[in-house]
Amino acid sequence: MVKKDGKIKIRSMGIYLPEKVLTNLDLEKMVETSDEWITTRTGIKERRIAAEEQVTSDLGVAAARQALDRAGLKPEDLDLILVATNSPDTLFPSTACWIQKKLSTREMPAFDLQAGCTGVLYGLIVAEGLILSGVCRRVLLIGVDILSKITNWEDRTTCVLFGDGAGAFILEESDDDSGLLSHFWGADGSLGELLMLPGGGTLHPASEQTVKEKMHYIHMKGNDVFKHAVKRMGESILEALKSAGLDKHQVDFLIPHQANLRIIDAIGERLDLDPEKVVVNVDRYGNMSVATIPVALYELQEEGKLQPGKIVAMVAFGAGFTWASAIYRW
Ligand code: ACO
Repeated sequence: MVKKDGKIKIRSMGIYLPEKVLTNLDLEKMVETSDEWITTRTGIKERRIAAEEQVTSDLGVAAARQALDRAGLKPEDLDLILVATNSPDTLFPSTACWIQKKLSTREMPAFDLQAGCTGVLYGLIVAEGLILSGVCRRVLLIGVDILSKITNWEDRTTCVLFGDGAGAFILEESDDDSGLLSHFWGADGSLGELLMLPGGGTLHPASEQTVKEKMHYIHMKGNDVFKHAVKRMGESILEALKSAGLDKHQVDFLIPHQANLRIIDAIGERLDLDPEKVVVNVDRYGNMSVATIPVALYELQEEGKLQPGKIVAMVAFGAGFTWASAIYRW
């Protein structure tokens, strides 16, 4: 039974961004595109790309280690490793189990959660339930993706959009006013085909044909995704604010999933927020899927902007389609 008056808090955060930077000018040499097109349509200038030998769990472990160090904790102090990803090391075992191995923790539950780019906010909601019901005391939630390894680098409609990265949260029950105040989540599976990785599952098992037809890469109808993303993210944030008993003007910072600057601007406008309150890093990292929100929150803290009491609204949209929002008092 979840304690109605309880709250979870982010005790510490960590991130990892691969060193290699791929700029729009680099992309001009790879596909028929231009810095001007990418900048005006997406707001992206550059993105990070994982090294060939790096796998998703490597990025996740690096972010997790930083979060543990910052909290002064050891891996054995955790109760659960929960990993949101869409680009796992292997279909199974889960990336969470690979991360457990690399952290050399004691035995503890570890599993992946797959909810498109919404994964970290879904993870926050799942962790809240587990912590407030007493199943877990301390959860390591990681959002990590290496989209560059599931991107078709010959498809200019997708390859300019994505990047790689990881963010980690250590979550516990809050003992003060700070913490997760409310959330909202949803999904509409009837629209799944608009954004998918069709090959390699039981629908299209790996074969010569699936490789030839590039089915092991992201396929997306960008225009449709765009329309649904703006609508769902706008609605979802208003629902979560209502549950928290807050008005949109009380939001100090809005962190929307960083997919495209035009989507981010449209949500900021819908909520009638000053542009300075809307957090943007898509220009530097592109769309890192589940890593966008944790990296943006981490950077906000590093900039010294997360003073106690600040209200942060986070909202995401992704494959499924899925969407979720969370209101957090720092
Ligand atoms: N460079 C140059 N031209 C391009 C490129 C490119 N990289 N990509 C497409 N074009 C062309 C198209 O071929 C088309 O040409 P045509 O008119 O001759 O047919 C023209 O540009 C316009 O294409 P549109 O797809 O209509 O462009 P749009 O303005 O919709 O922008 C974009 C495309 C950026 C993909 C946009 O639709 C978008 O951002 N959608 C949302 C995508 C998204 O956020 N996905 C992820 C959300 S969930 C998650 O994170 C997994």
